[in-house]
Amino acid sequence: MVFFLPSCESFPVFNDTLLRQAGKGSKSVTSRDSVFDLLEKKWISSTYFDQGLKYESSRMKVVSLSELLKVYSPDENMDAILLNCADGYQGIISINDVRNYDLQLALIIELPQGTARPYWLQPLLIVVPNHAKPPFSERFFTANITELRFVRLVDYYSSLYSLDLRNAYAQFGLELFKDNCLFCHSINKVGGNKGTSLLSTFDLISDEGINNFKEKFFKMHGRDNNTTQNTGLFLTDDQFDALLEFLYEISANH
Ligand code: HEC
Repeated sequence: MVFFLPSCESFPVFNDTLLRQAGKGSKSVTSRDSVFDLLEKKWISSTYFDQGLKYESSRMKVVSLSELLKVYSPDENMDAILLNCADGYQGIISINDVRNYDLQLALIIELPQGTARPYWLQPLLIVVPNHAKPPFSERFFTANITELRFVRLVDYYSSLYSLDLRNAYAQFGLELFKDNCLFCHSINKVGGNKGTSLLSTFDLISDEGINNFKEKFFKMHGRDNNTTQNTGLFLTDDQFDALLEFLYEISANH
């Protein structure tokens, strides 16, 4: 008896049709979406990832985010992807980032044997491939993603942009907060909730409150933190002051 198996050549056609049907009209994609079975997968390494988290020769099985965007072809007003994560982290990357840096999404993360894995380092994970050179930034390390949602940046940040900040230094602080902290510490209901609300925990108008904030910050996010959440890594001292100025201003206006 002879069985006829579908030949490999016919697979891409079949794949394409299925993919279009899968993506039509959707505004969000969950990590269990069938699109991940259908997209082409590759094993790659990422120097960006290894250097950022101090690993050597980790490998990941990835799909291309640009390919995913082709399937979902989000409405052209949508210029970013919100990344909702299992641990309350909320990442956001612009569609320009996806295109400019050919960002990938890891379905499997393989660390060398004997390497400690922080609890949050689970797929889906944003991965920078070796041919791309983005600036070193928190948003390119988003892990544990359970949902990708297409959004508009102006809508997402609207309640932060409507804050009446009086000086450019505080404005600079807002940008730093967006790029480094908002993913875990929400403000005005924007952002993630992996960490506590900083404005309700600290009285940032008093010197005592500010000192307390600094002390706790370095304890949690200093270089030696064993959960690898050494956010201090991304900030210079001057930037940290601008960030404090921003937090001071919104506390004073509340
Ligand atoms: C990856 C997620 C994450 C990022 C990014 C992050 N934090 Fe945190 N942060 C936490 C967690 C988790 C804690 C510990 C739980 C808590 O107390 O909020 C914490 C704690 C803190 C604390 C101490 C809070 C307390 O009650 O003792 C401060 C202050 C703080 N973060 C400030 C910042 C600032 C400023 C930034 C940006 C430069 C930042 N964090 C970025 C997750 C994060």
